[in-house]
Amino acid sequence: MKDFLSEINIQLRTELKKKPNFNINPPTFGKISTDHVFLMDYEEDKWNNLRIVPNEPMTFDLSCVSFHYAQTIFEGMKAYKSKDGEALLFRPRENAIRFNKSAERMCMPQINEDIFVNAIKALVDIERDWIPNEPGTSLYIRPFMMATETTINLTHPLNFMFCVLLYPVGHLTGTFRPVNIVVEEKYIRAAPGGTGSAKCGGNYAGAMIANKKAKENGFDQVLWLDINKKYIEEVSAMNVFFVTQDEIITPLVSDTILDGITRKSVIEMLRSLNIKVTERNISIEELVKLHEEGMVSEVFSTGTAAAITPVGSITYKGYTMNFNKKMVGDLTNKLYNDLTGIQKGDIKESWGWVCKV
Ligand code: COI
Repeated sequence: MKDFLSEINIQLRTELKKKPNFNINPPTFGKISTDHVFLMDYEEDKWNNLRIVPNEPMTFDLSCVSFHYAQTIFEGMKAYKSKDGEALLFRPRENAIRFNKSAERMCMPQINEDIFVNAIKALVDIERDWIPNEPGTSLYIRPFMMATETTINLTHPLNFMFCVLLYPVGHLTGTFRPVNIVVEEKYIRAAPGGTGSAKCGGNYAGAMIANKKAKENGFDQVLWLDINKKYIEEVSAMNVFFVTQDEIITPLVSDTILDGITRKSVIEMLRSLNIKVTERNISIEELVKLHEEGMVSEVFSTGTAAAITPVGSITYKGYTMNFNKKMVGDLTNKLYNDLTGIQKGDIKESWGWVCKV
């Protein structure tokens, strides 16, 4: 880390921004950013100009490739402050690995995993006073890469920027509460051979119309089906789990389903409790049947931003399935508390997931 720091040009603000008091105003997710950002530029086949600088608006030519052809990728991570004041990260190397997979799919340059992780550590270290510690809060970390080449020609760009932004946040949906989901029957999020398993901006843009329609119809989010409108894929931007009497079922990761880091952590946590988790295709018709037979006790979704979200209901073709009387289930609650407890350093774990900044 010491050697790495000497490669970063650090230029700090002389006057720091006023930090919010989350006891007075609960944070809106993703609106308040911290004082500084990490930046580096890809030019002449290598990453150059590593720097931590004040977070200020920047100027880009309007022909910038990412504005026109959506060559952007991102990650979501969180930092927590432990009871003894340490800044903690959760499985940051997993994000580095997934970031590089997204970069490969989107024809963008790789970033050395150590540089990715150490850049984040260096920035979080400088901004550690921004990590909130009110219940349900954390510092959300948004690493992203964009093509900065200036041309509207559809060429293979040579110039990119990598950036890390930080946001003190509360819960993504405001509070930890069961959400009401509607099955999306017209649009799909991803297709085989497409970009569904990459964390690229276009996936999220293409999903907005369905989420907007769901909200207009009184739902919180959508359940995405596969290209044949048969198998369940994701809930909004999260992986989904169905708790049945015999097993917990979650769709198998594929090129249309994001390989969630929270998803794989939850699977490991459940298996360590000797709970059977099956990663397999589950059709919407099978879910309806299992629900009719009273076999589905809880449904929840997993992702970095919200950690675990209880699903209160799923509506399919006008038929609504309620789960656990639309209340937070015991297992969902335990997983949320255990996962966030591990992330905050309150619960010791032996996987080596938590690392100090
Ligand atoms: C995350 O969980 O980090 C996400 O990708 C959600 C984000 C789109 C708000």
